[in-house]
Amino acid sequence: MQQGDQKLGKSFYVTTPIYYVNDVPHIGHAYTTIASDVMARYKKLCGRDVYFLTGTDEHGQKIERTAKEAGKEPLQLADEVVVRFQELWKVLNISNDDFIRTTEERHKKAVTQIFKTIEAKGDIYLGEYEGWYDVRNEAYITETQYEEYLQMPELKRPVIEKVKEESYFFRLSRYTEPLLEFYANNPDFIKPEYRKNEVVKFVESGLKDLSISRTSFSWGIPVYHNSRHVIYVWFDALTNYMTAVGYPDDDEMFTKYWPADIHFVGKDILRFHAVFWPAFLMSAGLPVPKTVFAHGWWTIEGEKMSKSLGNVIDPYKIAEEFGVDVFRYFLLREIPFGQDGDFSRESIKGRVNGELANGLGNLASRSLGMIEKYCSAKVPSPSTINPEDDDIRRHALKALENYNSHMEEIAYSKALVDIWDFIGFTNKYIDDMAPWALYKNGETDRLDTVLWTISESLRLISIVIYPFIPASSELLWSKLGMKSGLSSQVLPDAGKWGLITPGNNVSKGDNLFNRI
Ligand code: MSP
Repeated sequence: MQQGDQKLGKSFYVTTPIYYVNDVPHIGHAYTTIASDVMARYKKLCGRDVYFLTGTDEHGQKIERTAKEAGKEPLQLADEVVVRFQELWKVLNISNDDFIRTTEERHKKAVTQIFKTIEAKGDIYLGEYEGWYDVRNEAYITETQYEEYLQMPELKRPVIEKVKEESYFFRLSRYTEPLLEFYANNPDFIKPEYRKNEVVKFVESGLKDLSISRTSFSWGIPVYHNSRHVIYVWFDALTNYMTAVGYPDDDEMFTKYWPADIHFVGKDILRFHAVFWPAFLMSAGLPVPKTVFAHGWWTIEGEKMSKSLGNVIDPYKIAEEFGVDVFRYFLLREIPFGQDGDFSRESIKGRVNGELANGLGNLASRSLGMIEKYCSAKVPSPSTINPEDDDIRRHALKALENYNSHMEEIAYSKALVDIWDFIGFTNKYIDDMAPWALYKNGETDRLDTVLWTISESLRLISIVIYPFIPASSELLWSKLGMKSGLSSQVLPDAGKWGLITPGNNVSKGDNLFNRI
């Protein structure tokens, strides 16, 4: 393959979930956001016109309660917490194009508009909800969930409350068949494949109409013709993905970016994105997103992360302690994207020492060091290409081909393995070619060809690591003395072999990564 994504210039819209502002960000939030950032950066690298959205989910009973407990107004709490998210995304080098807050006017307008459209379709009616509600997850508890709940040990049970109130309902029951048909016709809608079954099973069991307004509290977007009701926070929140791309007023932007190419979400919120969201959109006569990717959860030494257990990991601290790129690399390399995994400082250290400092860092510093020493810090010109050099070229192109297909499959850890295999191969090429011996024996032509080959490998490596560890990628790019900016590099062209120009001024400088 080797060509990356062919649809040059075509739009690509990627989103993170919007985060609740009842609490400060933790590594779970950082994970979803970094994973989305990797895709946004990769698609940019492939020449796509990317729009990348994140933001905050600021309405609902949970936030109203947390604010009350803290003696604050909900908006005051949101205003305080939102900066923690915005600052964290800057620190973690997140390349979002917009940051949406659901308390913004543009969003209230969008929610009211989709509500009206669905109402006009005849899919909204007034009734009464009586049942259980999980405030922490802002979720109505179905009968099956209630049965499961009763089986749980008391300590692990979510706190649920009995609710009985007037409510507007969405005729979700009408969408059982259309949804099943939709899943069957759009095999890429729910990813990974192994998460699809649970969604299909849930829908097959028959959908009940969904309560989409609440009357027992007031922190939300009022129903436009009945302000005793505020709109259910998930109906409100999901709409953010459309608000940010111009719904309902900016047709040009909306047509360009909607439907979203990919919503990244955690497995806990897959049902909202893969069942309710497409049903709302079908009812409103709007296109449904192409893919919802549900990733797994991080545990801390085998335990669920929770405030009460006191084991919540602060992403600011990890980034400060290990470095932003180490953190980004670790999260995506440690576990196959989609599955659950365990977070520990020991595993971070292992990856830093083995793969970042030793593998990539060592390759860069020994290579650049030799060019400084043997070639007056200028990339030399190659002459006769030997089979060993050609082997490196073939390996590079094969690695790139595997990398592109793994990135398209959103198999991040596999894409990283592809890159690191090639790093290992290049390190071995250096050992085998022993440039120090060529230098000592005065074999200048051969030395130049070998060092040029190594520089070209480093150029390709700095491009493919860009989505994952962008700061290190930029740094390596500048150490290679590249004249054009990294941001102007577009695959597949930039992935051709042999583009590094002899004469580039290289500098070894500080290590990319230090051992711990
Ligand atoms: N506000 C909703 C999303 C609305 S999207 C229209 C919400 N917010 S959240 O702040 O609770 O969670 C946001 C994301 O963080 C989810 O994708 C969730 O899966 C993820 N994580 C929260 N804890 C996590 C871990 N321990 N591990 C990995 N991700 C986890 O849900």
